[in-house]
Amino acid sequence: MFSTLRPQITTLLSQTDSSVEERLQALCEFLKKELETYNWVGFYFRNGDREELKLGPYAGAPTDHTIIPFGKGICGQVAVSNENFVVPDVQAQDNYIACSISVQSEIVVPLFLKGENIGQIDIDSDTPDAFTKEDERFLEFVNNEVAKIMV
Ligand code: SME
Repeated sequence: MFSTLRPQITTLLSQTDSSVEERLQALCEFLKKELETYNWVGFYFRNGDREELKLGPYAGAPTDHTIIPFGKGICGQVAVSNENFVVPDVQAQDNYIACSISVQSEIVVPLFLKGENIGQIDIDSDTPDAFTKEDERFLEFVNNEVAKIMV
């Protein structure tokens, strides 16, 4: 599955007639459509020089959490740890920000540009324990491709 998606993502992101924002929006919608356990797919980016994340393009239900301070929730923790964060059961997690009652598991993978953590991709699933090492490798690939168009 992931091996067929990878080249499609590269193609989608190389559509230079669309803005970066439009391509990231299309990418979120593509991932949500192709992967049935990916129920909410979005990007958060560092908000200028502030110690906070700002919601970028996403696909799925609207969220109230458009700004997340560094350290808060899974996303805010990844902003400071620079590490992937896989949550098999969100109800068992301290320091978690609930976006939707239906969400059971979550993965957040940081996005690096020239070695700097500038944001992250966040996936929520309505399926418990939806994310594996393969998802981590796949989303690292996705973020690496995204970094290439963010100059
Ligand atoms: N659950 C995230 C907040 C973002 S929403 O999932 C869209 C967190 O704990 O950081």
